[in-house]
Amino acid sequence: MKSKNLIIGAVAGTILGVGSAGQAMAAEELTPIEKLGKNVFFDNISIPGNKQGCYSCHDPAKGWILPNSAINNTTVVAPGAAPHALGNIKPPANGYASFSPPFRSGSFGFIPPWEGGNFWDGRAEGCGATGGACPAAVPAGGVSETITLSDIPSSKQADYEKYLGPTADQALNPFPNAVEQNIREKNVCQRVKTAKYKGLYEDAFDQAIDCSPDPQLPVGQRAYHKSFKLIALSLAAWQASSDVNSFSSTRDKALVEDPDHKFPLTGFTDKENFGHDLFYGRNDSGQNTGGPGGRAKAARCNACHNGVPQGEPADPAGEAPHQLYTDNRYHHIGVPFNRQIPGVAKGEKIGLKAHVIADSINPGEFRTPTLRNVAKGLGANFKKAYTHNGWFKSVESLVHFYNTRDVADIPGNNLGLKRCEDLTPPIINATEKEALQNNCWPTSEFPNPAVFIVGNLGLTPEEEDALVAYLKTFSDEFTPAKP
Ligand code: HEC
Ligand code: HEC
Repeated sequence: MKSKNLIIGAVAGTILGVGSAGQAMAAEELTPIEKLGKNVFFDNISIPGNKQGCYSCHDPAKGWILPNSAINNTTVVAPGAAPHALGNIKPPANGYASFSPPFRSGSFGFIPPWEGGNFWDGRAEGCGATGGACPAAVPAGGVSETITLSDIPSSKQADYEKYLGPTADQALNPFPNAVEQNIREKNVCQRVKTAKYKGLYEDAFDQAIDCSPDPQLPVGQRAYHKSFKLIALSLAAWQASSDVNSFSSTRDKALVEDPDHKFPLTGFTDKENFGHDLFYGRNDSGQNTGGPGGRAKAARCNACHNGVPQGEPADPAGEAPHQLYTDNRYHHIGVPFNRQIPGVAKGEKIGLKAHVIADSINPGEFRTPTLRNVAKGLGANFKKAYTHNGWFKSVESLVHFYNTRDVADIPGNNLGLKRCEDLTPPIINATEKEALQNNCWPTSEFPNPAVFIVGNLGLTPEEEDALVAYLKTFSDEFTPAKP
């Protein structure tokens, strides 16, 4: 497959301009295929009609997640278009998801050997980008259908091959899903064919959209199915554009404007620079917090939340323009069961193990989410939910969890922390609120979470605070508007 850096090669050179309203805007003009994807993303293509579009669960103004504070704060999962339809896992951000490579296994030392794909469990594998097969896909559970080069009209294959991959495969899923847009492929095709933006399809693919039902043919050869795949490809194209991946956060700007483009950044506060040092276990800010050798303590976030697009040089110091804050690999950080999600039983959402059936995989491994935009859109009236089941309601409490998760197991620890199940009376399946009120952490939903890396970091409250301040510099200033 062609390297993704073809796409971001253009983004790398992007200078963010300032619009007349003073709002930051991406300078890139979108191509027809990107424009088509953007229009489809913001179109309410669903049954019942006009109820739901991709943006309903992935709002750019909120960092591409569910824009419903009340739900984020309680049941977490998104309602579908159909009445009473409910999802069963938290909508992750789709921003920066297109940088995840096709799903594969590899050898990464002590790190579990699976990486890439889209979805929390990687089942949108994107193997169409690698010639139709994921090299090491061993006995698989649910896997998404894939889009391959032969699905693209031959005159456009050279231009659009770069859009094949996990995010293209992902886009095949939300429309027909009964708990999402709940609409058949044929009807999606019809809708695009009659939409105001219908001309963009022909501009993008040099052919008219064909929604013929072709009942005599196998599904894979029917005209509407082929058109549906190209609509999904257009969604992937837009999601790979600078509209969705603008790299326009405070961190990105301060890095560009810094005289030597290295930390500590002159555009950062001391606290933000210090947060960076903790995240990467460095002491550029010269603050001695009593870590080994007088270095800043290592919060070790970079063990998993560090990575760059394929083909770009590794970035161990967190100073690359396209730092993604994810390794796109699978880890088990010990998230508690969330009893507030309707219809999901304890032990049910096992993550990667539902996708790849292998003894070596522990239940509870999920793909590391990017930290870009984790704090975007937060406010007094807007809360988000964090991790796959949304048990955490703030970045602050999640950082406190990373710092002290395992301290609760140390009898008589100086934080007075306990396991919620060990209190009298015990709290079983505690919510975040109950845990914080009672100074306890529930045991992990699944045994054997990552040890050593997280759990007992020995950070002071000021250090936790600095980490949070650093994460808050990752919010993109640019927000694409609905077309
Ligand atoms: C009803 C809410 C809802 C709608 C509508 C919806 N999504 Fe999602 N989206 C989700 C949920 C939930 C997940 C995670 C599912 C999982 O991992 O099993 C997800 C995952 C994704 C991901 C994967 C991100 C990653 O890093 O793994 C992408 C990309 C995405 N959606 C794009 C879209 C597009 C494009 C559309 C429209 C065609 C869309 N979504 C419509 C809820 C929604
Ligand atoms: C061992 C790998 C690993 C380490 C180390 C790690 N994380 Fe994570 N992080 C993950 C994974 C995996 C998830 C998702 C877990 C889940 O959903 O069950 C996650 C989730 C998050 C989220 C929620 C994002 C979202 O959109 O829901 C934040 C914020 C976060 N981590 C911040 C941090 C910080 C800050 C540190 C350092 C103190 C850190 N992480 C250390 C792997 C790691």
